[in-house]
Amino acid sequence: MTKPDILQVGPYPEWDQVPLEESFTLHRYFEAGDPDAYLNSVGERIRGIATRGELGASRAMIEACPNLEVVSVYGVGFDAVDLEACKDHGIRVTNTPDVLTNDVADLGIAMMLAQSRGMVGAETWVRDGSWQAKGLYPLKRRVWGRKAGVLGLGRIGFEVAKRLAGFDLDIAYSDISEKDYGQDWTFIADPVELAEHADFLFVTLAASTQTRQIVNRQVIDAVGPDGMIINISRASNIDEAALLDALESKRLGAAALDVFEGEPALNPRFLELDNVLLQPHHASGTIETRKAMGRLVRDNLSAHFAGRDLLTPVL
Ligand code: 8YV
Repeated sequence: MTKPDILQVGPYPEWDQVPLEESFTLHRYFEAGDPDAYLNSVGERIRGIATRGELGASRAMIEACPNLEVVSVYGVGFDAVDLEACKDHGIRVTNTPDVLTNDVADLGIAMMLAQSRGMVGAETWVRDGSWQAKGLYPLKRRVWGRKAGVLGLGRIGFEVAKRLAGFDLDIAYSDISEKDYGQDWTFIADPVELAEHADFLFVTLAASTQTRQIVNRQVIDAVGPDGMIINISRASNIDEAALLDALESKRLGAAALDVFEGEPALNPRFLELDNVLLQPHHASGTIETRKAMGRLVRDNLSAHFAGRDLLTPVL
């Protein structure tokens, strides 16, 4: 049997690459010197796209593959896939929900703790001899017992809130509607009011055109000079220019960010700031979770080409 031709948009670990190659003929788009010319040359053969959450698949890519049937995303977020283009051409889309939820929540909590307690600076304080030369490390802010706001009580937001409860935080959340599984926490519909409540504002909503820059200047200012914004969703959920202005002028106390506009080429203004913790979009980046994500990417593709139901369909 001939293997279906798959356009591979980004690299995967070896443990995914090998089994993918056993079942499919892979075309490595990310290694092409001239991506457009490459797409022109292989587009006709492509029946599936295997991509990553942050890379997605544009309309131009989708339409360069006239025999495309399915897009399989390595990631829960599918905001970078042009869903309208997929709908227009009857293309199925899958993602990797659930398997990454707990790791993403863990990293969000770790970022809050690390940033609030100044752990990165404290490590430098030990390593560069400041401890010996200058004495005690500057005092930082407590986490437990303070107030948290969770913007988006989906799968990831729920796990973040559960973990925050373990630190005795006073938890509120915002979503399009009150959630029956959020009964232990206060529902505050308006993001600005949520931000006014929060010392720690977690941005955990699935990104879409509707949520674009939902964390605007007003929300950022409502978090305020003693507050922190933690983003483990997508950069597009925050007005990044307003965030940078607020961090620079200290109208916002701090931020802990795993995602950036234009990543990995983030705005260099971030690098000048000492009140932001920068992470390289690795909230789902554990061996266990990435193996489960890779398996789901493959299993969805295999199910599609065998005519079985998709495991985790988006479209
Ligand atoms: C991944 C993600 O880091 O799930 C998502 O939407 O952005 C992350 O899990 C990414 O997709 C891996 O390439």
